[in-house]
Amino acid sequence: MSGAKVHREPVERDPVQREPVEREHWNSRAGFVLATIGCAAGLGNIWRFSYVAGENGGAAFLLIYVACIAVLGVPLMLGEFCIGRRAQADAVSSFGSVTRHSAWGVAGWLMVAASCVLLSYYAVIAGWAYKYFAGYLSGVITDTAGGKFADYFNAFVADPFEPVLWQLVVVVSTEVVVVAGVQRGIERFNKILMPLLGATVIVLAGYGLSLDGASKGLTFLFRPDWAALADPAVYFAALGQAFFTLGIGADALLTYGSYAPKGEKLAPAAITVAAGDTLFAVIAGVAIFPAVFAFGLDPAQGPMLAFVTLPEIFSVMPGGWLFANAFFVLLGLAALTSAVSLLEVSCAVLMSRLQWSRRKSAIVMGCVVFAAGVPSALGFGLLAGIQFSGLGILESIDRIASGIVLPIGGLLIALFVGWAWSRTDAIDAAGLPDGSLASAWLFLLRYVSPCLIALIFLWLLFG
Ligand code: PFF
Repeated sequence: MSGAKVHREPVERDPVQREPVEREHWNSRAGFVLATIGCAAGLGNIWRFSYVAGENGGAAFLLIYVACIAVLGVPLMLGEFCIGRRAQADAVSSFGSVTRHSAWGVAGWLMVAASCVLLSYYAVIAGWAYKYFAGYLSGVITDTAGGKFADYFNAFVADPFEPVLWQLVVVVSTEVVVVAGVQRGIERFNKILMPLLGATVIVLAGYGLSLDGASKGLTFLFRPDWAALADPAVYFAALGQAFFTLGIGADALLTYGSYAPKGEKLAPAAITVAAGDTLFAVIAGVAIFPAVFAFGLDPAQGPMLAFVTLPEIFSVMPGGWLFANAFFVLLGLAALTSAVSLLEVSCAVLMSRLQWSRRKSAIVMGCVVFAAGVPSALGFGLLAGIQFSGLGILESIDRIASGIVLPIGGLLIALFVGWAWSRTDAIDAAGLPDGSLASAWLFLLRYVSPCLIALIFLWLLFG
């Protein structure tokens, strides 16, 4: 595979690619970086990070997670960016058009499928956040849940209608942003929203820190219990979380990279996005864990942490109603910016391959992912009987998508950039000077990433 020549014909003349000549681009560097932080920072940083860190020892997990982001995350993110930017095409055409090996198009399709599957259940969980925000704002949750938040949550997710309705609201709001286009929709939306989300999470963290007993939460998050490092499960949880949170392996980074103009410096962008995303998760942790400890609750609550444990805290803490509103707005909007990136992947494919309009592509794909997500939305009520190894529909799909499909996508990116491209082509596509930094990047992609990802699979099969 190594050393295959890059296909260098101009984008417009490539017969396989069928891209419109005028490809949309980001309006500014800040727009590109903020939109990509929007893709990365989502449910993964708030809902998933807090419960996975809670279940896996807090600081020990955080340490390995940050190492995974640096060693695997940043190199793979840069890899995805540079495939898209070099091809200036949708996810499927990109793989085929920048090598002569058209079989690589299959990798593109696989990752597009991953983005659709991910969005199908992502919209369901985002819908829960919307529902909680609406519930707090209108006072319904405070009035009716009466401290019994587990019952409230279970009754809501078991309802045959409501979770589907909120899932639909998420899908429609995602479509609205995507239909408005790369600059006028995705970029403008993220440019306004990301600084706002950053400010919200900082205010929430400040509030968390002001609570009595906050120091216990900080100790949990920042002082590693070295004994926890002996447990292999912590490493795998950190690796899976790193993929999910950065959005690696679902073609979203590739698609956003394809809107980056030729002169854009991709390596600093990848580092900024990874740093911003990690900071977002850590600050969200600072908002959540001091509160969990201050109110004497167990941090290892699992996926219900955000929807059951935190509302319990909000109900007894001073200013809890305001805190609850801010938290669920943050969760819902952060999820929306990620959902937008996931929908954009398949829309870009339809627009360029079938020459569909943006509107038609977004509406059709919105309907497809909505229909695909209905079983996940009903998996706690009408379809609760459907279980796979004791897990419900949504959890099973999440395990497969984030634990298997995204790492496979990451593996394909590593193999493609590391081996299907020659060294010169890869570093040229990344815009890196040919020196030790480029060598380190390629070493991580060629050897370290495939080995670590192979380890995940061995763990899944035999662990
Ligand atoms: N990174 C998002 C989160 O942390 O919630 C999830 C995600 C977005 C995964 C986009 C994959 C992706 F392509």
